[in-house]
Amino acid sequence: MTYSSNPYDFSDKRSGYEQLAGQLHGLLEGETDAIANAANTAALIFDALPEVSWAGFYFVRGGELVVGPFQGKPACVRIALGHGVCGTAAARRETLIVPDVNAFPGHIACDAASQSEVVVPLIAADRVVGVLDLDSARLARFDEVDARGLERLAALFLQASRLEDLR
Ligand code: SME
Repeated sequence: MTYSSNPYDFSDKRSGYEQLAGQLHGLLEGETDAIANAANTAALIFDALPEVSWAGFYFVRGGELVVGPFQGKPACVRIALGHGVCGTAAARRETLIVPDVNAFPGHIACDAASQSEVVVPLIAADRVVGVLDLDSARLARFDEVDARGLERLAALFLQASRLEDLR
């Protein structure tokens, strides 16, 4: 694995995510440990994306979401499925873009500075194994381009990783 932090160019978001997917592919190549891969995925996303205050994983363990590797301030550890933005995305099995977290019923405020959020469910063999969660201190920071780009990064993480490590 080789990695050098590049100045990422997100002036064109689509090509920014394109570059990032290439970087993540290289970063995860040859490694299957799910915790190690989640840690590097979170670090890459947090390093690369502008205006992101938290980036990381929650994994389903014992029927609830439990925080996994992340970058940013310490976070809530356990989230029930169906609760908060993370638990709702996991229960609905769909990516949620929340332009204003204060307007989302049941939003769980880990960091009072967070204003907007995007959550991608991680689905493997038809089972939700967790979520990829990003927060921003700017309202409406995330759009459909971010959602599709992050879904692609999540898919690369799932493909590369031995998911039994997460149980
Ligand atoms: N806001 C999330 C909780 C997790 S933190 O943002 C890291 C939610 O409502 O599920």
